[in-house]
Amino acid sequence: MSSYASQPISQQRESGSQRSGEQRPIASSTVSQNNEPERRQSSRSTETASSRHHRSDRRRPVIFVIYYSMYGHIERMAKEVCDGVESTGCECRLFQIAETLPAEVLAKMHAKEKNSQIPIIKAEQLPEADGIIFGIPTRFGSTPTQVRALFDQCGGHWMSDALFGKPVGVFFSTGSIGGGQETTALTCVTFFAHLGMIFVPLGYKNKRLQSNDEVHGGSAYGAGTLAGDGSRQPSELELDLAKSQGHQFAKVVKKLAR
Ligand SMILES: Cc1cc2nc3c(=O)[nH]c(=O)nc-3n(C[C@H](O)[C@H](O)[C@H](O)COP(=O)(O)O)c2cc1C
Repeated sequence: MSSYASQPISQQRESGSQRSGEQRPIASSTVSQNNEPERRQSSRSTETASSRHHRSDRRRPVIFVIYYSMYGHIERMAKEVCDGVESTGCECRLFQIAETLPAEVLAKMHAKEKNSQIPIIKAEQLPEADGIIFGIPTRFGSTPTQVRALFDQCGGHWMSDALFGKPVGVFFSTGSIGGGQETTALTCVTFFAHLGMIFVPLGYKNKRLQSNDEVHGGSAYGAGTLAGDGSRQPSELELDLAKSQGHQFAKVVKKLAR
């Protein structure tokens, strides 16, 4: 397993980046106003007549997309999931999970610097969401410590039922095809069940998931990508599945939020 950690990652680093662990103010959400992905406009701030109608009808559901990403694959997928969420008229807020590893360990692992534009989620913020989608890079077939650390701060939410009945989904990334995409999703379900959250899978609504024409990540449980040694980036098909997941998930949230 050490090879995962020691491979150099040819990942373009974003400007303005910094190590995580700092508390930052919550960024205001970005919103896309159209109802279907194929009819989306290029500017997220552009408001249409239909969106104004939608907004006046009832409060727009708020969906949190919360990810941990060491090498950038999950972060790339997360942005696509957000696009899918926003295509339904829901409000999407993107967060990252706090780092738990020391800087010297991250350096040895060739970790990408964190994107300083994305705020770090605090456990107490979770009840503000109408639905949550977690982006998780697989560690030994399951969830990384960084994600578990967030889960472990949810004892108060378990006590108060603050997350009870909220839809939740996951998308993931592994080094290899058999590396544990489905086990990563399923090992999160225990947490979701204890909190009373409703696990919403990706399913097969996007038929491209069934394609055997090319190697790709993802399954019925959620969108996924294959990072390989780190140099492989999410493919067009994988990004399409990620956008579908955001779109389908948000539609479920909208139904339940009525
Ligand atoms: C400690 C460690 C354990 C890992 N365990 C697995 C594993 O069990 N299966 C697998 O396919 N990939 C494994 N990987 C590879 C990661 O899943 C891969 O780096 C990650 O999906 C890339 O996503 P990111 O760029 O968003 O960090 C592991 C990586 C590390 C650092």
